[in-house]
Amino acid sequence: MIKVAPSILSADYVNLERDIKKVEKAGAEYLHIDVMDGMFVPSISYGPGWVKAIRPISNQTLDVHMMVQNPERYIKTFTDAGADLIGVHFEATPHIHRALQMIKSNGAKAEVVINPGTSVESIKPVLYMVDQVLVMTVNPGFGGQKFIPEMVNKIKMLNQLKRENGYHFDIEIDGGVNNETVKSAYQAGATVAVAGSYVFDAKDPADRVKAIKRATK
Ligand code: DX5
Ligand code: ZN
Repeated sequence: MIKVAPSILSADYVNLERDIKKVEKAGAEYLHIDVMDGMFVPSISYGPGWVKAIRPISNQTLDVHMMVQNPERYIKTFTDAGADLIGVHFEATPHIHRALQMIKSNGAKAEVVINPGTSVESIKPVLYMVDQVLVMTVNPGFGGQKFIPEMVNKIKMLNQLKRENGYHFDIEIDGGVNNETVKSAYQAGATVAVAGSYVFDAKDPADRVKAIKRATK
């Protein structure tokens, strides 16, 4: 069964605690926090203050997806705020290795993220040091987009690299995930599924978390 990471980007911000409790109770192991800087992606979302506010009300793995140009500048701020896992985009810095090192030396789990247009080949040199790889299944910046099925092949490649080299990283998918699209990704080796609109645009977010889990039994 896949681990589920509801993205609060689609939650009800004035009732955030209520929404978080719903998905945590339903068995979502992670909480996905999308940080957007208006540069790396067009939108602006929220920052470390939200991580700090959420930390005491959730026991989930706080999974911070930094859609931020030169993320090195803010890694310490996010680990201090209580992030368990921090994802940095390969495309957002000329120093991806250093950024990952910084996350680890600040005591969090390190994740490298690749956009739909970026190859698995480009992150091969850092796979030995990461706890998780995020394969974007949409172009980052907005919730509610359509899953790009061609990305499933990257999951297969990563899974093969795991086997060949004895790596243990999780493989996460993000974008357009629902109880149907998750299936092929899970079969290819994805171990964590982010879902925003599918979970929080529903009447019953708990039911949607369970539906993703059921689809990957
Ligand atoms: C997109 C974000 C996603 C977003 C996913 O840039 O990284 O985490 O919340 O939203 P859905 O699940 O609606 O595609
Ligand atoms: Zn995300």
